[in-house]
Amino acid sequence: MVKYLRRTYIQKLSCSECRQVFNPDIWIFRCPHCNAPLEIIYDYDSLREKISKLQFQQRVNNIWRYLELLPVKNPSNIISLNEGWTPLIKSQNLSSILKVKNLYLKDETRNPTWSFKDRGTSVGVSKALELKAKAVCCASTGNMGASMAAYSAKAKMHCIILISKNTPIEKIVQILIHEPTVFLIEEPYPKLYKLVYWLSKNYPIYPIQSDTPQRIEGQKTIAYEICEQLDWQQPDYVIVPTSSGGNISAIWKGFKEFYQLGLIKRLPKMICVQSEGCAPIVEAFLKGESTPKPWPNSNTIAHSISNPNPNLASGKRVLKLLRESEGLALAVSDDEILNAQKMLASKEGIFAEPASAASIAALKKLIDMGAVDRDERIVCIITGSGLKDTKSIVNTLTSPLKVKNAIQFKTLIQKFNFNFL
Ligand SMILES: Cc1ncc(COP(=O)(O)O)c(C=O)c1O
Ligand SMILES: [Zn+2]
Repeated sequence: MVKYLRRTYIQKLSCSECRQVFNPDIWIFRCPHCNAPLEIIYDYDSLREKISKLQFQQRVNNIWRYLELLPVKNPSNIISLNEGWTPLIKSQNLSSILKVKNLYLKDETRNPTWSFKDRGTSVGVSKALELKAKAVCCASTGNMGASMAAYSAKAKMHCIILISKNTPIEKIVQILIHEPTVFLIEEPYPKLYKLVYWLSKNYPIYPIQSDTPQRIEGQKTIAYEICEQLDWQQPDYVIVPTSSGGNISAIWKGFKEFYQLGLIKRLPKMICVQSEGCAPIVEAFLKGESTPKPWPNSNTIAHSISNPNPNLASGKRVLKLLRESEGLALAVSDDEILNAQKMLASKEGIFAEPASAASIAALKKLIDMGAVDRDERIVCIITGSGLKDTKSIVNTLTSPLKVKNAIQFKTLIQKFNFNFL
């Protein structure tokens, strides 16, 4: 691990829309002029001289191997549970079923609280500590809350989490065990999102939401790792389940930075997948619009990707990056998601939550449509674990065979038609 940084390479905070610049160490989370998300910009010219592939390869197997490209100045402020450096698994079984040659699964279920959120939370909580915040807060559909609760516990910081009423019980338990202050608010998610910014304006509480610059910095390491794991090459397509749009924006930033630093030669095409029951970004993309409209009645089993108004977060930024990367957006149905969830588990051994399996459902659809080439290098981001949200899948599975005792078991086994015998 790097013990200290001789200098920081952070230059400024820049608005993703109007390009106004701000001091990266002040408490500002969205542009005060146009309300767009802010992004951290580094001194890429100096970084090009400073960093090398070998240097990264020799470091810790977590996001902090990319320390110069992360916004924490003093490494003693780092709060880490060993997030990141998740496996990039080359699919064998699923790829032969789908008839694609180069399918990779970036398995984010392996993170400390079982979702990609841990990357952004580690950076966000570390930065909050560095800026001497008294507490952190976020609005969450469950995964971010669980992650924030765990990291703030380790940082000995107070944590306030706002969750909406359809948050799965598994995620509520995962949040509560770390003892943060939790509000279950009977308002739609976008309202909770706004309440968090209200909270941070009025109290010394540091927000770490899906679009806050520090979270984006942590989550961009998904792209860095993919390149490194592909032996410093970029994929052709990256498929990302999308709700508020923070994660796909972060991953795109990661690829662009590695490209700018000369670590990869080309940029991938980004694919945004949403559920048919809540697809505001897809709808805007298909209509050629630059701003997603609020979705009237969000209704899907993919609860983690059901933000009906991503415009308050990164919606516009996603539409821009899809065009910039020559990517696309598509929606998948709940049935397609459930089938993909089962396929991923039964063919690859990965139990993902419905929102995460949307990337596999999207891939199947894209191949059927002929929209991606079967020879190309495709990465599906598997964003979070299936154990976090079991309600929709549990009744679709074969129940255990009920047996009273050993005699009944032996009788049953003798009658069994095992196809492996
Ligand atoms: C499992 C999972 N997948 C995807 C997403 C979507 O991420 P974003 O809101 O950054 O688009 C979330 C967000 O909560 C999530 O929990
Ligand atoms: Zn602006």
